[in-house]
Amino acid sequence: MAAVRVGIIGMGNIGRHHAGYLLAGKVAHCQLTAVCSTSPHKLADYAAQGVNVFDNAEALIRSRAVDAVIIATPHYQHVALGIAAFAAGLHVMVEKPIAAHKADAERLIAAHRQHPGLQFAGMFQLRLEPRYAKIRALLQQGELGEIVRVNWINTDWFRSEAYYTSSAWRATWKGEGGGVLLNQCLHNLDVLQWLLGPPARVQGFCQLGRFHHIEVEDHVTAYLEWPNRATGVFVSSTGEVPGANRLEIVGARGTLILEPERLRFLHNAVDMLEFSRTAKTGFSKPETVVTEIPFDNAPAPHAALMQNFINAIRTGEPLLAPGEEGLASVELANAMVYSSLRHEALTLPLSGAAWEAELQRLIAGSKLEKKVVPTEATDFASSFRR
Ligand SMILES: NC(=O)c1ccc[n+]([C@@H]2O[C@H](COP(=O)([O-])OP(=O)(O)OC[C@H]3O[C@@H](n4cnc5c(N)ncnc54)[C@H](O)[C@@H]3O)[C@@H](O)[C@H]2O)c1
Repeated sequence: MAAVRVGIIGMGNIGRHHAGYLLAGKVAHCQLTAVCSTSPHKLADYAAQGVNVFDNAEALIRSRAVDAVIIATPHYQHVALGIAAFAAGLHVMVEKPIAAHKADAERLIAAHRQHPGLQFAGMFQLRLEPRYAKIRALLQQGELGEIVRVNWINTDWFRSEAYYTSSAWRATWKGEGGGVLLNQCLHNLDVLQWLLGPPARVQGFCQLGRFHHIEVEDHVTAYLEWPNRATGVFVSSTGEVPGANRLEIVGARGTLILEPERLRFLHNAVDMLEFSRTAKTGFSKPETVVTEIPFDNAPAPHAALMQNFINAIRTGEPLLAPGEEGLASVELANAMVYSSLRHEALTLPLSGAAWEAELQRLIAGSKLEKKVVPTEATDFASSFRR
C-alpha cells in the first residue's frame, strides 16, 4: 500500500502538534494531505505547504483526499466526527478522551463495530513511555505477586486561569463534560487501568472550581477498589505548584515506586502474605532488596503512536491503544465525578445513561458566565511529559 493519506480535524494546540511532526516526515508511509479548522486563520500556513484545507469537517471527510483522520477537536465532537468518518470508510485516530462521557463513547465504539475493516485508535501516547511499559511487564510477569494497594498522587497538572479563559469550551459541562479528570489526567487514568485492570468500586471526592473560575472539578481525591479487594487512591489537581507525581503499586512480592525521574522496585524475598500467615515470631518481616530500574523518556510518543496506527492500516500491526480501550478512562473519570456528586461509592460498570442524564442536568443548571480571552499556547509542548 502507498503512503496513508491523513487529514487532521481541529487545528488547535494538539492538531498543530500532530501536523508539525507529520509534515517533518517523522511518521513513515504517511502523508498529511488535509487539515480542517473552524478557525480559518489557522489554515493559511498549511495551504502554503500544499496541504488541502477545509473549514468544515464534513467537507474534509467527503473530500477523498484522505484515507484516515486524526480527530483533534474538543471532546464532544469526537463522536459525531468519528461516526461520520467511519461511514465514509476512513480509519480514525481519535484524541483522548474518545468521548466526553461513557454513553457517547459507547456510540462511537458501536459505530466502529459496523466497520471492522477500519482501524480505530485512541491517542494514549503515555502507553509508549518506557517507564510504564516496564511496570506493565513486571506486573504481567507476576513479579509483584497479589496486588494489595495502589496510590497515585498526580497533581503536577497546574493550569492558570488564563488557560481556562483561553477558549469557550474548556472546563464547562456543556463544552467539555468534565475537568482535570477528563482532560489533563485522563492519560493517567488510562495507564492506571491499562496496568491494573478496571476497578470494581469508585468513590470520588471532587471539588468543583476550587482554584479557578470554572464549574467542573479541578481538585480530586478518589478511592478505588479492585475485584481482588486491592485498594487505591488517585489524587489530581490543576491548582498545585510544584505538584507531585508519585505512583506506588504494592504487591505481596514487592512494591514499585515511580517518581518523575526514578523507578524503584522494593523486592520482598518472600511473599509477605505467606510470610504473615506462617511466621513463628510477631515482629519479624521479610527481607527487601531495592533495585533502581532505569528508563528513558520516549522522545516523540505522539509520532510513535501515529506510526503504530499507520502500520496497523498498512500491515495489520496490532494497535497499541485501540479506540475501544478508551472507554475505560472515560468511565473512570465520569464515575469519580458522579459518585462525588451523589456522595456515595459507585459499583462499576457505571451506567452511561445515568451519568449522561446527570450531565444534562448540570448543563441545564449551569450559571457560569465565561469571558473568553484567547492566548497563544507557545508553551503547549511543556504539558506532555508525565
Ligand atoms: N494527546 C495529547 O497529548 C493531547 C494534548 C492536548 C489536547 N488533547 C486533546 O485534543 C483535543 C483538542 O484539544 P486542544 O487543546 O488542541 O483544543 P484547542 O481548543 O486548542 O483546539 C481545538 C480546535 O478544534 C477546532 N474545532 C472545533 N470544532 C471543530 C470542528 N467541528 N471541525 C473542525 N475544527 C473544529 C477549533 O477551532 C480549535 O482550533 C481535546 O479532546 C484534548 O483532550 C490531547
